[in-house]
Amino acid sequence: MAVRRVLKMGEPLLREVARPVARFDAALRTLIADMDETMRANHGAGIAAPQVGESLRAVIFELRDNPRYPHIKPVPYTVLVNPVLTPLTDEQDEGWEGCLSVPGMRGLVPRYTRLRYQGFDAAGLPIDRTVDGFHARVVQHEVDHLDGILFPQRVRDLRNFGFEDVLAGQMTPMPD
Ligand code: NI
Repeated sequence: MAVRRVLKMGEPLLREVARPVARFDAALRTLIADMDETMRANHGAGIAAPQVGESLRAVIFELRDNPRYPHIKPVPYTVLVNPVLTPLTDEQDEGWEGCLSVPGMRGLVPRYTRLRYQGFDAAGLPIDRTVDGFHARVVQHEVDHLDGILFPQRVRDLRNFGFEDVLAGQMTPMPD
């Protein structure tokens, strides 16, 4: 296991559509272990394989009870491979997001409030969940990475995009 370098916005690999995972093998488990260490070392709530330099359709996310975000329900630790998202509503909510690939920045991003996600865990076992709130938001953010999309591309009004330390006090804090 290793903490890997996190690619930052501007790297061409972050704009690519990642390819599906074909084998649930030791290489995938190593990649996921590295993503896990890298996410924790950077205090992230999620990370996608392209952010550590692998153009593969795998993401992980988790939000433990955190006094910094008392308004957010915890999200269970999830490894999600080859995900498929299905919005279950037309309703979108705007929320402040950050990203380990866009360090120090925050933006107000619309996301579907409720969706179903399907995919596989690291062992290839199927996952099928219906979620809402921050859980729905973090899945959409991470899966966007697999389609080459970073959250600033989703910000509707760039007046709602800026440096976290400057915006502090103007926004409801959200995990990276
Ligand atoms: Ni991100």
